[in-house]
Amino acid sequence: GGKGGARGANLLFDAIAPVDNLVDDVTVPAGYTWRPIIRWGDPLFRGVPPLDFENQSAEAQAGQFGYNCDYLDIIADPSGRTGVLAANHEYVNPGIMFAPSTDPAELDERAAIAKAAHGFSVVELERNGKREPWTYVVGARRNRRITADTMFEATGPAAGSDLLRTAQDPQGRWIKGTLGNCAGGTTPWGTVLSGEENFDGYFVWAADTPGQKRIRSSASTSSTYTFERIDPRFNARTPEFVNEPNRFGWIVEIDPQNPTSVPKKHTALGRFKHEGANVIVGEDGRAVAYMGDDQADDYLYKFVSKNRVSGSRRKNLELLSEGDLYVARFTGDSPASEITGTGALPADGSFDGSGEWIPLTKGGRSVVPGFSAAEVLVHTRLAADAVGATKLDRPEDVEPNPKTGKVYVALTNNTGRTVADEANPVVNNRYGHVLELTETAGQAGTRFAWNVLLLCGDPTNPDVSTYFAGFPKELVSPISCPDNLAFDSAGNLWISTDGAPGTIAIDDGLYKVPLKGKDRGHVQLFLQVPREAETCGPVVHDEDGLVFVAVQHPGENGSVAEPRSYFPDYADAHAPGVVAGPRPTVIQVFQERADRPGRSRRDRR
Ligand code: FEO
Ligand code: CA
Ligand code: CA
Ligand code: CA
Repeated sequence: GGKGGARGANLLFDAIAPVDNLVDDVTVPAGYTWRPIIRWGDPLFRGVPPLDFENQSAEAQAGQFGYNCDYLDIIADPSGRTGVLAANHEYVNPGIMFAPSTDPAELDERAAIAKAAHGFSVVELERNGKREPWTYVVGARRNRRITADTMFEATGPAAGSDLLRTAQDPQGRWIKGTLGNCAGGTTPWGTVLSGEENFDGYFVWAADTPGQKRIRSSASTSSTYTFERIDPRFNARTPEFVNEPNRFGWIVEIDPQNPTSVPKKHTALGRFKHEGANVIVGEDGRAVAYMGDDQADDYLYKFVSKNRVSGSRRKNLELLSEGDLYVARFTGDSPASEITGTGALPADGSFDGSGEWIPLTKGGRSVVPGFSAAEVLVHTRLAADAVGATKLDRPEDVEPNPKTGKVYVALTNNTGRTVADEANPVVNNRYGHVLELTETAGQAGTRFAWNVLLLCGDPTNPDVSTYFAGFPKELVSPISCPDNLAFDSAGNLWISTDGAPGTIAIDDGLYKVPLKGKDRGHVQLFLQVPREAETCGPVVHDEDGLVFVAVQHPGENGSVAEPRSYFPDYADAHAPGVVAGPRPTVIQVFQERADRPGRSRRDRR
């Protein structure tokens, strides 16, 4: 902060006192309120019905907002009065969407609904002026649904390779659908990137090759989401579709301004359980993308484009098709004997050191002995194993700070860790940590310095070593399982969490963390989501006085008969004859003003 009108001043708040994990409400700071923008099942197009819990259909779902948003952006047009909301739909929670059934026809229809509830939504927004909350527009020109059946084009060195060919696509270039889309990023040229993460849950696996085993260790006879009931390509045990899983696990790119554009899957950025990708423009003008592979003991990656970002939107849309892929190796600067695994700081006072980006491809060719370029890009984990990358505690969102170029890595947890190192200094890491990287040879270079910014947990728990960049522990909010990241206009880091209810017994939330000056490491809780929900998005438009989050899987452990959340339609929940359950929803948070009602607790009960 600073004197009047300083950046960030539109979002001054006192950190909220955390509410426990049974609270089924959105909790915001004093003086703030919240309102939904769009919910699961809201129609995007004219003539599409609203959600009917008891009579949902795949046809309706394909024209409605999908389930469980993770990545979110709100992209305003120059006027500030219109814009688009872009959100992905990672997965579904059938147990709270549908009453139990064993009827085969009903189960087939549910699989079709689930396919249609995945993918992406682009929705136009409008409002009365800057600093006002948004509403979405049914039937607007840019509105679009992308589902598990929308055609994508593969780009890059693995496109067209044998490893991508199936009976339906002998060219290995045209892939139906996107699945498991988790975090993401909006590029400097205005497109949206999203990572295909837990794609293993969509396939019946043979798990009979090293490449398959590195994704899914054992064979299966059915998938989590049962798409194989209605679509044979999800059975990878059949010869026709043995390669179908190779067509997922990519970074996808979508142009939210052009509803007829063909979305892309970029093979040059490698294939793994991609959490997301975030691009910054390097000193030499090349696009540099940072990416995590969200699995315990997997890796951190970086992609550097061959060509430079330019004023040509058409050329920029090709940037992620050609470039070099790297994986990170971390080296600590303290003696190994001082890294005890408890999180206690070493003698030099910091978990820190140096690192290098090890190349996997250069100029579109493999630099890993024994791997072709297509093999590096399709079986990227195996290639990274071969070059000695550093195993990390589940890399989730990885974001460069647009103000400084420093890179922040959310390592959400890894309870399977038995041997600590300086970059992963806690065995049985329940609460996660955050790394800060400084590129020391330029943004596109191969050397970096790093330090542990945060060791998460409840700072009042004497049995847990926490660390908040040296900030006094008694002044910070408890935080656990960091997941998605964002920055405000002043370069402060914002962290949303996924796992606080089960580890520190509070609802998941959104936290502000200053990175500079005397407030560095001052973790402050801004918002909490309802019971059993994960905080996704987030988007911080501090200069516009608005914060947005996607509330994912509220009440995930309930059932239709016994909901554990009624978010966000609390009033409907208790109305006689109304069937209502929780709905994943994108919400906006803003300051209360007498002429601009939000959703007060009174209205909702
Ligand atoms: Fe979908 Fe890694 O979280
Ligand atoms: Ca050290
Ligand atoms: Ca995530
Ligand atoms: Ca997570």
